[in-house]
Amino acid sequence: MKILVTGGLGFIGSHTVVELQKKGYEVVIIDNCSNSSIKVIDGITAITSKKPVFEQFDLREKDKVVSFFERHHDIEGVIHFAASKAVGESVEKPLLYYENNLSTLVYILQQLTQKGASNFIFSSSCTVYGQADKLPITEDAPVKAAESPYGNTKQIGEEIIQDTCKVNPSLKAISLRYFNPVGAHPSAEIGELPIGVPQNLVPFITQTGIGLREQLSVFGDDYPTQDGTCIRDYIHVVDLAKAHVIALQRLLEDKNASNYEVFNVGTGKGSSVLEVITSFEKVSDQKLNYKIVGRREGDVIAAYADTTKANSQLGWKAESTLDESLSSAWKWEQKVRNS
Ligand code: WQD
Repeated sequence: MKILVTGGLGFIGSHTVVELQKKGYEVVIIDNCSNSSIKVIDGITAITSKKPVFEQFDLREKDKVVSFFERHHDIEGVIHFAASKAVGESVEKPLLYYENNLSTLVYILQQLTQKGASNFIFSSSCTVYGQADKLPITEDAPVKAAESPYGNTKQIGEEIIQDTCKVNPSLKAISLRYFNPVGAHPSAEIGELPIGVPQNLVPFITQTGIGLREQLSVFGDDYPTQDGTCIRDYIHVVDLAKAHVIALQRLLEDKNASNYEVFNVGTGKGSSVLEVITSFEKVSDQKLNYKIVGRREGDVIAAYADTTKANSQLGWKAESTLDESLSSAWKWEQKVRNS
C-alpha cells in the first residue's frame, strides 16, 4: 500500500517514514529540502534497508502537485508534514506562512477529493490551544486566538480539513495536535537538524552540551510554576511517529471512525525547563552552562496533554521517558558533530 509523506525528510516526517516502512507500507516522499537535507534518505535507508521514493519539488507549485497525483494514482493515504514551522519567523513573514502552509494543504486536498476514497493525516500542534484554562489539555479545550501566524495556519488548516470532510464523505482525516517533539531515532541515523540557531529548547541544550553554543538562556524563572520555569509536554519523536502510523491504520481499517477526528499527541506529563536541563545533565553526565534571562514573548506558562482519547480510541500511548528522549537527542548530537 503506497503512502505519500510530504515533508518526509524533516524531523518528524523522517521518523514517520521509518515507522511506515517497518509496518510494510511503500512510502513516497515529497520534500522541497528548504528545511531538510537530502542526506536524510540515507539515514532512513540505513535503518530500514528500504530506500523511499523521493520527489523534490515545492508543493506551492500546483501543476506539480496535480502531475504528481496523476503519476501516483495508487496513493492510499497522505501524511502531510510539509509546512514552515518557526513561530518567530511567522511573525516577521506572515504571508510566507499563509501561502506555504495553507495553499499546499488546499492543493493536496483538491487532489484527494477528486480521487474518491482517501485518507489524510494532518500535522497540527498544541499551539492551537494557546494558554489553556485547564490542564491537562483535552481535545475539546477551546481553540484560542492564535499567538502567531504559524499557530493560526494550524487552526485554519484544521478548519479547511473539517469543512472539506463535511462535503466529501469519502475523505477521512485526522488532525494530530503535537505537544513538544524531542529526541532522535535510537540508531542515531536520523534526528533533528535545526538550521542556524535552534529556536527550540532541546536542540539548543544539546548544541550547548557539545560546545557549539556558549550558553543556554532560560527564558524566565518567574512563572507561577513549581520552579518558576515554563512547563511543556516533551514527547519522543519515535513515539510521535508511531502515533501517525496508528492513526493512518485507523482510517484505513476502522469503518466506524468518523471522517474527521482530532487527537492530542503527548506524554500527558509536564516537565519544566529546569527539569529538562537536569535530565540532560544526568544523561550526558556533564553540567550544562545556562543562565536565567527575561521571558520570551508569546510563551505560555504550561501546556501538557490529556492523552485519554488517543490512549483509548487509537490504542496508542507514549512509551519513552524524558531521560530516554534527552539521551537519544544527545547521542544524535554527538553523532552529527563527530561525523
Ligand atoms: C520550550 C520551553 C521556552 C529555548 C514550539 C512551538 C510549537 C512546536 C514546538 C512546531 C519554553 C524555553 C526555549 C531556549 C528556553 N513547534 N526555552 N530557552 O515554544 O513550547 O513550542 O516548538 O510545531 O508549535 O510553539 O517549544 O522548545 O521553543 O520552548 O528557555 O533557548 O523552553 O521559553 O518555555 P515551544 P520551545
